[in-house]
Amino acid sequence: QPVKMWSGRFREPLDRTFEQWQRSFPFDWRLLAQEVAASAAHARAIAAAGVLTPEELVHMLAGLTRVGERVLNWSNRISATSGQIDYEVSDAQVGAAIVASAPQAEDIHHFVELELTKEVGGLALKLHTGRSRNEQIATDMRLFVRGAMDLTILDLIEWANALLTLAEQAGEAVMPGFTHLQRAEPVLIAHWLQAYVSMLERDLSRFADARARMNFCPLGSGAIAGATLKLDRTIAAQALGFTAPTANSMDATSDRDFMLDFAQASSTLGVHISRFAEEITLYATNEFAFIELPEAFSTGSSAMPQKKNPDLTELARGKSARLLGASTALSTLVKGLPLAYNKDLQEGQEQIFDIADTLAGLLSVLPNFTRALKFKTANLRIAAETGYLNAMAAATYLSNKGVPFRKAHEIVGNAVRMGLEKGVELNALSLEDLRTLSAAFDADVFDAISLKATLDCHDVTGGTATHQVATALAAARLRISHL
Ligand code: ARG
Repeated sequence: QPVKMWSGRFREPLDRTFEQWQRSFPFDWRLLAQEVAASAAHARAIAAAGVLTPEELVHMLAGLTRVGERVLNWSNRISATSGQIDYEVSDAQVGAAIVASAPQAEDIHHFVELELTKEVGGLALKLHTGRSRNEQIATDMRLFVRGAMDLTILDLIEWANALLTLAEQAGEAVMPGFTHLQRAEPVLIAHWLQAYVSMLERDLSRFADARARMNFCPLGSGAIAGATLKLDRTIAAQALGFTAPTANSMDATSDRDFMLDFAQASSTLGVHISRFAEEITLYATNEFAFIELPEAFSTGSSAMPQKKNPDLTELARGKSARLLGASTALSTLVKGLPLAYNKDLQEGQEQIFDIADTLAGLLSVLPNFTRALKFKTANLRIAAETGYLNAMAAATYLSNKGVPFRKAHEIVGNAVRMGLEKGVELNALSLEDLRTLSAAFDADVFDAISLKATLDCHDVTGGTATHQVATALAAARLRISHL
């Protein structure tokens, strides 16, 4: 067997430095499971076309299975004692072992062919009949991205449920809502938390939507123009769980939209994670003092003994930058490429792996961190009750009494000014004081601007009135349980 998959027309050996530099095996070893599965699907298709006898197919499939298992076992991923995946062995260690074992492998496709030859001898050389690495890498990456999206969806559901549980536990506890980072109106803590659940629900739908759009099988597309064998492409598509074969071979071998979709959905999710992280970081400061950081998810300072730092949320905010960066890198990579396959596309793989790792890492800590958050409800209540956060409720009270809202706004603005001068909240002004500003004020104003009424006047779908929030939480829980 020649050392390269393509050495026939070459007379000179490759420059050593170039050869190492252009290899993708040091990172695309991660596509081992996908490459084995796609190869098995292709074997079924060429067997149906008569290239392999039924016995050869059985032999080939068993060989491919052994390649996958053997490689993983021998890289020590699977514990010899328990048979379970040993998480003490890092991905990097697994990869290093696999890569070191095959210095001659150019990429994962070459590697699997070499390994299969060890398993089934010359029969392995028939596997490449009618296929090209261009369709293989397009298929492997689709399978990888599909798997990463499935994991992300499960992780997001868990985090969304953790946020909903925290919201339910918060009950009717209040906090100030901010606009311009200035206190605006009181809201239920549960309402604030559900804002993030809404973002995650959109993220979930973006991933599900992208998954459905990309779930088509490139196998049978050949190098560019379609397989050189009359293959029944539905065989491979079905074997790999795809909806159907792709429609155009030039598109299928050069399309990376599914990677862009995944990257863009991930970067939007990253934006949401980062906003959440920013709020927690802010609210955990002594200046806000709204949240007690869980010690199990915080770190100290080697220099300042008093510190408890919000490293989790800071890192989460930072990691989102990688997601945005990867998305930009991928769009930039593809945008100038003529059809069809170009080797530039190899550069996209590491961005996708980094996105998948970054998301898996973020979503491995966020649910438990969320469960461990403690609100300083007394401080939150004081912050919600002071600073004239009931001014809009007061204006609404006047408008309910027939004062046009624009006038009511002006009157309550004057009342706020009066309160500021006296150093008291609106509730602490006397009725006589208020009546100097408008005869529409009555004794019932004090009920109308109480904290409870200030919340409950927002009695619309999606508003922070107590019963609306309870209904919204239950509805979100139900929607998510159906995913
Ligand atoms: N390692 C290559 C990649 O990731 C596989 C496809 C190579 N195809 C080719 N014609 N050189 O893109």
